[in-house]
Amino acid sequence: MSAGPDAAQQKQAVQQVFDKVAAGYDNPATRFFPFCADRLVNFVKPGPGARVLDVATGTGAAAVPLAQAVGPQGRVHAIDISPGMLDRAAANIATMALENVDLHAMDAERLDFRSDYFHTVVCSYGLFFIPDMQAALGDWVRVLRPGGKLAFTCFEQSAFQPMLDNFVENLRVFGVQLPDGPFGSRRISSLDHCCELLETAGLEAIETELVQVGYHLKDETEWWDVVHNTAMRGLFEQVPGERQADFRAEHLAFVAAQKTADGLWMDVGTRFAAGIKPTAG
Ligand SMILES: C[S@@+](CC[C@H](N)C(=O)[O-])C[C@H]1O[C@@H](n2cnc3c(N)ncnc32)[C@H](O)[C@@H]1O
Repeated sequence: MSAGPDAAQQKQAVQQVFDKVAAGYDNPATRFFPFCADRLVNFVKPGPGARVLDVATGTGAAAVPLAQAVGPQGRVHAIDISPGMLDRAAANIATMALENVDLHAMDAERLDFRSDYFHTVVCSYGLFFIPDMQAALGDWVRVLRPGGKLAFTCFEQSAFQPMLDNFVENLRVFGVQLPDGPFGSRRISSLDHCCELLETAGLEAIETELVQVGYHLKDETEWWDVVHNTAMRGLFEQVPGERQADFRAEHLAFVAAQKTADGLWMDVGTRFAAGIKPTAG
């Protein structure tokens, strides 16, 4: 399991950054979250009446279309570790007048649901935040009914490039201590790695898909909206306060130079991966 002090600290840091970004998370610059969530629902196609678990629901990007797909006879349980994100999810669900979603403050590595309960389990852009991804997937499979589908999404290596590499390089230049190995979304390295995670969790009939959900941002200020309202903000805030303005100016000068007549292309290459829990016998 992931119960070591490092894992606990990592989780607390993740929770704190998402509590902080919650208010601005649903903004036009980060509209890839709901785009992708809609596609994920289409990827798993839960039927009317199904019971679905949305792990790391955030502000409910997947929970909302899932609730619409399963209809009034179905039920969506949506969990997240960040109370701030769950508050926004509750507001979004109320705006959509949905009455078939239950929100729970819960750690994705310690699900408080019975075994073999859900017809479908999804997680959009959440798995790579979890310290022990394989152990977490094992628990998600436990709560899935035999024959049920589990699906997750994560970013392709090309996502947010070349802005992301420049951002990370600048963090190092400005003295932020970063892990030696892959961190953040880079912890899931390829479609093959997605398959391996699902197979090791005991799933079969694995399917994967690579989808480009990118779009043109207006300019570098919209890119900063992406940084400021996602987990990237937690990294930026590790730059010493008196140097943050310089960091932002240098980074945004690089980003501005990437613009074309269409604006600033933001690649959001996204991997979709799913598998089925074997039925007994
Ligand atoms: C990038 S957001 C994705 C949210 C949503 N699924 C979406 O697509 O917009 C990642 C979410 O994972 C949640 N998260 C990270 N670690 C978690 C954990 N151990 N248990 C539950 N939620 C977690 C964060 O609080 C955050 O809301």
